[in-house]
Amino acid sequence: MGIYIMNKLFKQYQWNSTDQKSLDTHGHLILPNLLVESAKEKLTKSLSSIQDMLPGDPERPPNHYAAEFDSYLASLITHPHMLDLVSVVLGDSIRFDHCVSLNRLPGNSGVQWHSHEYGDGESKLGFLRIFLYVNGFEVDDGGLKVVSGSHLFRDSTINAESDAKLENGWLKGRRHPDTGVPLHIEEVSVPTGSVVLMWTHAAHAVSPRQKASKTRWAVVYAYRNPGLPSEARWISKQFERNGVPEAEYLMSLY
Ligand SMILES: [Fe+2]
Repeated sequence: MGIYIMNKLFKQYQWNSTDQKSLDTHGHLILPNLLVESAKEKLTKSLSSIQDMLPGDPERPPNHYAAEFDSYLASLITHPHMLDLVSVVLGDSIRFDHCVSLNRLPGNSGVQWHSHEYGDGESKLGFLRIFLYVNGFEVDDGGLKVVSGSHLFRDSTINAESDAKLENGWLKGRRHPDTGVPLHIEEVSVPTGSVVLMWTHAAHAVSPRQKASKTRWAVVYAYRNPGLPSEARWISKQFERNGVPEAEYLMSLY
């Protein structure tokens, strides 16, 4: 019991139908300030050690395979709090897909608009990303940008260099399939310790990190329903076999 308390990941919270509805309607859901203090400290340490390893071996970059380079990050793949959250959204048939560090150093240029693939034509196959934003972020400062409803198109080819190009391109004339609201860009900010869930087909981008800001510490854990190959799956053969011995079932492709 003592060890369990020491290793808590999330604060007490209750997933409810409003959370599910919000995730399914918008494509993302922010759970503000959910990480416990001790998890934030450990994550900062682990993510900063991953940062120190970069760029590393181009065949197996430490940021893309973050859990394979840090035992605390690896332990979160099967953390009961993590698996509770994953299974309440994806059901019981789940696979781990990747764990990628998303640290953004001062002056980092951010990421342009994009979406990700998985089961583009198979709406029953879910692919969920769970972002842990250890020290949060602000609008225009390593901040996440999203488009509510974009995930419902299950289009993995969304790509635009700027907000204007997205607005004059993919967004133009499209409406939210459920609400009818014209699709539009939203910039969000989240407090420290926030967790963001996102369906894989949601359009998203990240604004540049200001030069005067500290590093944004963040990591993403991705899980999916098995059934198809996954392009984002970054698990080495060795990690698939021995990385998480107590949860071999999570590691295979199918
Ligand atoms: Fe992404």
